Amino acid sequence: MVKIVLVGYMAVGKSTVGKIVAEKLKIAFVDLDENIEKNENLSISEIFANHGEIYFRKKEHLELKKWLENPNSLVIATGGGTPCYANNHLLLNGDGITSFYLKASIPVLYERLLSESNKRPLVTGKTEEELKEFIAKHLFDRSYFYHQATHNVSVDGKTSQAVAEEILQLLN
Ligand code: S3P
Repeated sequence: MVKIVLVGYMAVGKSTVGKIVAEKLKIAFVDLDENIEKNENLSISEIFANHGEIYFRKKEHLELKKWLENPNSLVIATGGGTPCYANNHLLLNGDGITSFYLKASIPVLYERLLSESNKRPLVTGKTEEELKEFIAKHLFDRSYFYHQATHNVSVDGKTSQAVAEEILQLLN
């Protein structure tokens, strides 16, 4: 039984890469955000707007715990904030868990988030200047948690396929 957990900032490609890794390993893939959206019957943006961030973080913690306790081998894509709240980073250090920090540079994150900010309540409505500043500070605050992952994998300039291959090699 193995748990492969992908962590990292918003828009680094955790879900896309996770699906490829799971397919190659012939094990199931779980996306925490997708599960929360299904359980609540709301999008992530609606959960933030209707119930607030703390409510979301509680659901995120319970969802992470539930899947880490699942008896099957799984690839789990977390949300960008998952390791940074509750005691989630401690849960991620548990037995049988191999975690990967998908690491992107600030300019790459900025480019990706500019085009996808409406799906992500933490960056929705920011000007380009605000977004740049926000990412730099937020990533700095979160780095401590991301760097507790078993492995770091840089994603800049790589396809999701290439990132997945790197993860598979690190698992061998
Ligand atoms: C968040 C990242 C999002 C989602 C929520 C909060 C964060 O997931 O969980 O909007 O705190 O960084 P992605 O990393 O998939 O964008």
